[in-house]
Amino acid sequence: MTKKDWEYGISKTLIDSETLRARIKELGAEITRDFAGKEEDLVVVCLLKGSLLFMADLIREIKLPITIDFMEISSYGNDFASTREVKILKDLEGSIMGKDVLIVEDIIDSGLTLKKVLKIIGGRGAKEVYLCTLLDKKVKREADINVQYVGFEIDDEFVLGYGLDFKQEYRNIPYIAVMGEDFE
Ligand code: XMP
Ligand code: MG
Repeated sequence: MTKKDWEYGISKTLIDSETLRARIKELGAEITRDFAGKEEDLVVVCLLKGSLLFMADLIREIKLPITIDFMEISSYGNDFASTREVKILKDLEGSIMGKDVLIVEDIIDSGLTLKKVLKIIGGRGAKEVYLCTLLDKKVKREADINVQYVGFEIDDEFVLGYGLDFKQEYRNIPYIAVMGEDFE
């Protein structure tokens, strides 16, 4: 069996690397401006695994002292529909008590996952919790959440690449793509 092409089945590029880079630079500048006057260092939390690439690029554009932490939750299996069950697979290492926290997410769909994450993090005494998502499928929103930083609003299509997966593959594709009909 030969290994399939790493871009197998992708029907089109939705957001190319250059566009991602430029927008993330803007988001970083905006976050830098907003938090420059605060006394405490911001804790930037990456929600694994989807946000890994976005996180790595975003924090390089935040020109302030920050700390980073990671959390992995399961809310979405290999299915197309959210199960709405949130389980902590990997928890934060540090305390967020009294701190400003910026949660970095890859994509918000219904918002139900993030709503639960907010409840967990908020319950640990964070001073203020802010949200930053690379992609926002706003038309699908069910939960009432306040997102301060949005990279791109997108239509309701299944996207992958730049951290986002299809059955755990395709995360290493350096741009956001739309899945073709013949994916397997
Ligand atoms: P909710 O509905 O709770 O779901 O906001 C958010 C999570 O759903 C996943 N998701 C996607 N993953 N391509 C993906 O690779 C998509 O188009 C997509 N839409 C939703 C994602 O894990 C996100 O954290
Ligand atoms: Mg996710």
